[in-house]
Amino acid sequence: MSDVQKLIADTKQWLEQEKVWDDQIYCSKENKAVIASEAKQSVSTGQTASSGRHTSGNPPRNDGMKADALKTLYEKYKDCQRCPLGATRIKFVFGVGNPDSEVLFIGEGPGYEEDRRGAPFVGKAGLLLDKMIAAIGLSRQTNAYIANIVKCHAMANPQTPDARNNDRPPSPEEVEACSPILLQQIAIMKPRVIMTLGSPSTKMILHTKEGITGLRGKLVPFDVEYFYPASVLEEVALFEEEAGKLAESKAVKIDAETRQALGSTQVLPTYHPAALLRNPNLKPESWTDLKLLRDTLAKP
Ligand code: URA
Repeated sequence: MSDVQKLIADTKQWLEQEKVWDDQIYCSKENKAVIASEAKQSVSTGQTASSGRHTSGNPPRNDGMKADALKTLYEKYKDCQRCPLGATRIKFVFGVGNPDSEVLFIGEGPGYEEDRRGAPFVGKAGLLLDKMIAAIGLSRQTNAYIANIVKCHAMANPQTPDARNNDRPPSPEEVEACSPILLQQIAIMKPRVIMTLGSPSTKMILHTKEGITGLRGKLVPFDVEYFYPASVLEEVALFEEEAGKLAESKAVKIDAETRQALGSTQVLPTYHPAALLRNPNLKPESWTDLKLLRDTLAKP
């Protein structure tokens, strides 16, 4: 493809992407209000405000039971004090959306707004995320689930909790302490695709040090073995015996069926919406990734 052809193709794609993201259907004031109130109703427990619509038309793998399992998980961890963030959080931000969704979006961690509202991605970056996923027929109210690698707000200065711009990335220890919650959410949901948003969640889920620029836009198998060591899986007895030691680690017990289902889960990294707000030049690549997600989910 010549440079001119590439420019034309890029421009076309840009226009297409701008049009769908800014579509009034998804950005009207009324719709924002509906999205906000439904998100409020469905915060924390992972229950959805309305029933699920599945992108591919496939029947859900485990209808109804996933919501109950997530609720149980939420109850287990909602008062979590596994790391220092537990002492300063306002709300535990578990996740939101339809537990039977085929796609799980994973961000970094709650910020100021999320901490106050108890739902992920409800600030500026969240509004953009809602628009982005709406452009491919997804929403947190119907057929998507959104969570973070850590569930509590990491503040640069916990002495000034009401200050804006007081967010910091979670430390490796905080990510480590929180990871069993996300891993159990994944084991319950068994999504077909996990879309990681930005470097931190991509690094955690893919167990890599590579940055998002080199990884985005490519489907990668979800590494079940890394998160669920074979020794633990093969020997339930061993797991029980070792439970004390493993309870605080990443190891999460899953059955053979779950393990098999997760074997077909794919990870698709893309830019974090906050990065797109900072640098709109990244939007065309992000749109390419979303289209790949849409096409992947459309396959049987
Ligand atoms: N809000 C979230 O919930 N997660 C992020 O990663 C950023 C904003």
